[in-house]
Amino acid sequence: MDYKSLIRVIPDFPQPGISFKDITTLLKDGQAYKSAIDELAEFAKNKDIDLIAGPEARGFVVGAPLSYALGVGFVPIRKKGKLPAETIEASYDLEYGKDALAMHKDAIKPGQKVLIADDLLATGGTIQTTVELVKKLGGEIVGAAFLIELSYLKGRDKLKDIDVFSLVKY
Ligand code: PRP
Repeated sequence: MDYKSLIRVIPDFPQPGISFKDITTLLKDGQAYKSAIDELAEFAKNKDIDLIAGPEARGFVVGAPLSYALGVGFVPIRKKGKLPAETIEASYDLEYGKDALAMHKDAIKPGQKVLIADDLLATGGTIQTTVELVKKLGGEIVGAAFLIELSYLKGRDKLKDIDVFSLVKY
């Protein structure tokens, strides 16, 4: 499927110089959305995954249906201050801006195999922080799956020992 033709590119959003990859135009196409998730599930299916972890908000749109497709649990990674129980936190730099991510302390049991899912791998800051949080809880990262990879930002270099899959590359 030609996913790229379904991704809308918005120049200079949210600030000058950023070429925003808008997946809403892909998500509203039911066939394309399903096919995209199915392809990520194909990558993940033989990895003996216990859980999928996805950072808010767009990571939920990829991670949750992938969890459903694979029949495994989903763990939300949220911007700090959103999760109600005891959390661990880690701060990170974004392609534009800075923030901190949090996870519930009991979200992962030591030794559980975790696949990370998100819509986009850009600088890799978000996923690096997600990896840090999952590892802190004793989870074993078995891969990372994305709809889009901005290869020119070299986020993959931050994920050296991780099996990274992306559907569409720019
Ligand atoms: C976007 C995107 C990824 C991240 C990628 O999320 O959904 O999570 O940036 O960038 P990076 O590889 O440079 O870290 P954002 O923080 O904008 O949040 P959102 O999903 O809530 O819009």
